[in-house]
Amino acid sequence: MGTIPLVDLKAQHRQIADEVQRGFAAVLENTSFILGKEVAAFEQEYSAFTQVPHTVGVANGTDALELALRAVGVGRGDEVILPANTFIATALAAERAGAKVVLVDCDPTWQLIDVAEVEKRLSKKVKAVMPVHLFGQCAAMEKLTPLAQAAGAHLVEDAAQSQGARRNGASAGSFGAAAGTSFYPGKNLGAYGDAGAVLTSSAELAKKVRALRNYGSETKYFHPETGFNSRLDTLQAVVLSAKLKRLAGWNEQRRAAAKRYDELLAPLSQVQRPSTMPGNEHVWHLYVVRVANRDAVLKKLQESGVGAGIHYPVPVHLQGAFAHLGHKAGDFPAAEKAAHEILSLPMFAEITPAQQEQVADALKKAL
Ligand SMILES: Cc1ncc(COP(=O)(O)O)c(C=O)c1O
Repeated sequence: MGTIPLVDLKAQHRQIADEVQRGFAAVLENTSFILGKEVAAFEQEYSAFTQVPHTVGVANGTDALELALRAVGVGRGDEVILPANTFIATALAAERAGAKVVLVDCDPTWQLIDVAEVEKRLSKKVKAVMPVHLFGQCAAMEKLTPLAQAAGAHLVEDAAQSQGARRNGASAGSFGAAAGTSFYPGKNLGAYGDAGAVLTSSAELAKKVRALRNYGSETKYFHPETGFNSRLDTLQAVVLSAKLKRLAGWNEQRRAAAKRYDELLAPLSQVQRPSTMPGNEHVWHLYVVRVANRDAVLKKLQESGVGAGIHYPVPVHLQGAFAHLGHKAGDFPAAEKAAHEILSLPMFAEITPAQQEQVADALKKAL
């Protein structure tokens, strides 16, 4: 029995290797490394895929979130509400935009941002709310939208883990003023290095982000505002276009794999399986179970060659980087409980039933 990685990028590369090689060769030939036509082409293709009118390719997901926040006007003195149980980058983006991070707990079932907690923290100071579409499914946007609107706050979605996900038929990234997504290699749509994008329905916001990603400039050497150097590389756009053609199929394969895990793990009473919030079309970026003695189980799984992981072991409020917020253990009980119990099992489109059986067997033994 072989080892099973958490994500198998090699299996995916084999499917697109020729196309990528041809695309790279064309870019090398015409040397359009920065904002070449492949970037614009991918932006249009991704917009067609998500049905969000504007996609602006940037250097990574963290920048995408920061630029989206800045584009909607978030700056010094503003508050930004986001969940305590997210990848640190959501919070970093808000802090880097100059805002004060205001954390809230998640719900205990899906670990999505707790809408009632958001409602409690909304005030005139809050300029944006950042729901995270965690593990591949959308937060309850239909509840957040009227709350944010009433409070005069923008919704900026963290759509890094939700490429292709839908809620009540609409795409992740289509609900808020803007969204940021990440094409980090292990994402459902992953580049061959760092990459990300801002999505928005607003032509005006898209224009702002295009300037912000390019030194704050629309016309070469004229800089009316302070910007960044954060562009999607042309070579990464080649990879992303090749993968995007296959993404819907890969997400379908992930759903089938999630269903197989559900069946294989059903007899294991100590394992709490993940579920889909009603109204969501899940894309299973991660298949996250919960077990009581997680650290021991994880160790045994890894010893038996199963590349399980934890997303994430320490919530934002207990990270040194956010110690200045003054939180302590116990402040966000649902997020903290999840951090102790969650376990991500290997999940990628190409995972085989035999590999999943091996994971289930290893988990059973580890328990
Ligand atoms: C939820 C979430 N937000 C933000 C990011 C940041 O993206 P990146 O690593 O491309 O900067 C990631 C992924 O890494 C993520 O999973």
